[in-house]
Amino acid sequence: MSFAKRIDSAIMKAIAEGQTAPSPAKLAEALHYAVTPGGARIRPTILMSIAAACGDKHPRLADAAATALELVHCASLVHDDLPCFDDADTRRGKPSVHKVFGEALAVLVGDSLIIMAFEVLAKAAVDAPERAIACMRVLAARSGMPNGICAGQGWENETQIDLSAYHAAKTGALFMAATQMGAIAGGQEGEQWEELGARIGEAFQVADDLRDALYDEDTLGKPVGQDDLHGRPNAVTQLGVDGAIQRMRDILGGAIASIPKCPGEAMLAAMVTAQAEVLTPIKWRADQAAKIAGE
Ligand code: IPE
Ligand code: IPE
Ligand code: MG
Ligand code: MG
Repeated sequence: MSFAKRIDSAIMKAIAEGQTAPSPAKLAEALHYAVTPGGARIRPTILMSIAAACGDKHPRLADAAATALELVHCASLVHDDLPCFDDADTRRGKPSVHKVFGEALAVLVGDSLIIMAFEVLAKAAVDAPERAIACMRVLAARSGMPNGICAGQGWENETQIDLSAYHAAKTGALFMAATQMGAIAGGQEGEQWEELGARIGEAFQVADDLRDALYDEDTLGKPVGQDDLHGRPNAVTQLGVDGAIQRMRDILGGAIASIPKCPGEAMLAAMVTAQAEVLTPIKWRADQAAKIAGE
């Protein structure tokens, strides 16, 4: 089965279990709404690739870890869109959860998805208990305080922002969770996989800044110009578009160099190289082609 199918069916199974009787109907519907359509699912895909590269020793744990990671990510987006955070009306090309279901249910959807994530990992502990617990510890550390998404969102309330701590926690954390949980489920230790996750996360943040600067809301499926609007630091304002593209590619070059020894090392290097293409905005490539044609 492809990674995409494994991830999708494991997520849908977890959501269906959360929707069983006697669940309240609106919250049950909102749970499903928050995870579909799935977006790029880049984090669980990276997790699965690393588990496979390490030998895929515990495939059921890899499925559970990928699901848990994506559930936490989706929860973070539901909360991030609330009026008390970014006040965003759209997400993934449709109205954000609070726009459809109201703020109270959006708070509860986020809470439910986070709790579900840890439940999914707890259930997977029958196969490889110590590794499942290690995954839970990684996911908790990358979601909460002092280094997880909560910390990342918390930085936005400070007058002085430590940019690298902010980005590492807001965006990098779940990529570090992806590489570390993938390695743990695959049969390795997680520690040595932190750097790869940190570097991919850093590149992803630059790519997100580029998308925010280059695209419109219809193309992106969520509000654009958010960094300027909220006065947040952004790679494009600091480096310009071409500079940001170069920066992203340099970071991914460093990511490839940091891949730890494992049976699927070459496959992972190819995966990171492919990510560089995926993360390079199509619009920038089209502009470059037009420039070359005009020369
Ligand atoms: C958006 O993440 C939030 C950031 C950390 C920038 P994604 O771009 O991975 O969102 P989806 O899951 O594909 O919608
Ligand atoms: C959202 O970050 C990701 C979280 C960590 C919650 P942003 O606010 O920068 O991303 P978008 O633009 O809403 O996806
Ligand atoms: Mg935000
Ligand atoms: Mg936002």
